[in-house]
Amino acid sequence: MIENLELILTRAQQALAGVEQEADLQAWRVRHLGRSSELSQVLDGLKELPREQRPAVGKRANEVKTALEAAHAARQAKLQATALEQALSRERVDVSLPGRRIPLGRMHPATQTLLEVYAIWREMGFQVYRSRDVETDAFNFELLNIPAYHPARDQWDTFYTTTPGVLLRTHTSPGQIRVMRERAPEPIRVILPGMCYRYEQISARSEIQFNQVEGLAVGENITFADLKGTLNAFARRMFGDQVQTRFRAAHFPFTEPSAELDIECFVCGGAGCGVCKSTGWLEILGSGMVHPTVLLNGGYDPQRFSGFAFGMGPERLTMLKHRIEDIRYFWANDLRFLEQF
Ligand code: PHE
Repeated sequence: MIENLELILTRAQQALAGVEQEADLQAWRVRHLGRSSELSQVLDGLKELPREQRPAVGKRANEVKTALEAAHAARQAKLQATALEQALSRERVDVSLPGRRIPLGRMHPATQTLLEVYAIWREMGFQVYRSRDVETDAFNFELLNIPAYHPARDQWDTFYTTTPGVLLRTHTSPGQIRVMRERAPEPIRVILPGMCYRYEQISARSEIQFNQVEGLAVGENITFADLKGTLNAFARRMFGDQVQTRFRAAHFPFTEPSAELDIECFVCGGAGCGVCKSTGWLEILGSGMVHPTVLLNGGYDPQRFSGFAFGMGPERLTMLKHRIEDIRYFWANDLRFLEQF
């Protein structure tokens, strides 16, 4: 009987050594440790053995059982470890690979400048007033003191629509009339930003569409000194405390007197260079005291009220600031340009 048990043990151990799969291990267990295994049969048959043999056979049979169970557990652990190792190497994530970059959008350079301009005027008490892009001849010209056939119209080459008298605004100035008619006789401090359109040959210096930021202050006792002080304050906030400015006489039909504001060229410091075309100065905006006719058209009595207005081009400001040499970059949608800002 004991010999039989030794045989059972060695056979089972040999069989176990060849087990490589989890499923085969299951089968091995049923076969060698299960209910109908030879070992179980020996254990079941103990009571039929002669009394004096029972303790020795029983003892050995239990030892064999324990040994086989231990061997099974060890084999199972080994198989699981191998399986884990294989899975790890098969499903390995290479953490040293660079990640896929998520492209981040950003503010368009013209928008960045617009936001900067809004912030400066907001601090000085100016609200943003939105006016329309599609205008009438009356608002874009007539009410701004530019009659039909007046040579001043040549300054604003215009996109006319097929509807007579309807056009794309050539500047943000028509918004002056709209806000005045809405607010009169209240005092006004607004900026009017937005896209303008001109029927022009596109070149490095001129586009058919561009932003403007108009400004308008109307009230009692507003003087040219207010215009100068306010615009100087703007220039200092926009271009730095040290910036030198100068007002140059100009002409616009809707302001009287009119002036253009220059800042000292920050490329050459006023000495003269390619950016300022050897003048030492850069033009940044047009301005003037609101013409009495325009005040009247807006619903304000020019005897009592006065005001100043200005208009600037944020793309132009951006070009000066970043020394961009061609305005066409702004709407060309070339990421190599846009990603620099
Ligand atoms: N509308 C003028 C232009 O487009 C600029 C301007 C605005 C000048 C307001 C004076 C006052 O050139």
